[in-house]
Amino acid sequence: MKYFLASAIVLLAATTQGSLVFMVSTEPGNKGIQKSWVTDRWVCHNLTEPGLDKNISWAYVSSGLANGCFLYEDAGCNGTNIYVEKYKGDLCCPGDVNMTDVGFDNRASSWACY
Ligand SMILES: *[C@@H]1O[C@H](CO)[C@@H](O)[C@H](O)[C@H]1NC(C)=O
Ligand SMILES: *[C@@H]1O[C@H](CO)[C@@H](O)[C@H](O)[C@H]1NC(C)=O
Ligand SMILES: *[C@@H]1O[C@H](CO)[C@@H](O)[C@H](O)[C@H]1NC(C)=O
Ligand SMILES: *[C@@H]1O[C@H](CO)[C@@H](O)[C@H](O)[C@H]1NC(C)=O
Repeated sequence: MKYFLASAIVLLAATTQGSLVFMVSTEPGNKGIQKSWVTDRWVCHNLTEPGLDKNISWAYVSSGLANGCFLYEDAGCNGTNIYVEKYKGDLCCPGDVNMTDVGFDNRASSWACY
């Protein structure tokens, strides 16, 4: 169901703006506070939403016109970063990343997709 909804959103986004969907949550496995954005590429977003700054533990890049998204340790898309590759279908990989697995748990303050 999650993937169906995400696909529907992406289809809508792709046909209107050529953007993509980026999803995060504050606990591993898409638990805790959940947030998703329909976003354009090359735009830096600070995690100003309540409860999200330095609290992201999971991220997922749904299909769309980006290759993936970076999470950055500092605001303004500066500092140490990690890359979350776009979900490329069931044949490839789970797509979602637990920040606990990549040494980036509760560290992100901004993000951008490319
Ligand atoms: C992320 O963590 C959750 C909770 O521990 C787990 O259920 C899920 O399988 C993990 N996902 C990945 C991609 O490792
Ligand atoms: C981080 O997220 C948890 C839920 O996963 C929430 O209970 C907690 O208040 C958040 N922490 C901050 C500092 O926002
Ligand atoms: C993000 O935060 C940085 C540092 O405070 C600021 O310079 C930048 O303008 C902010 N970016 C956005 C899109 O608000
Ligand atoms: C981020 O780095 C850019 C140059 O790489 C700099 O112009 C900008 O002021 C920095 N922003 C912050 C919030 O440190």
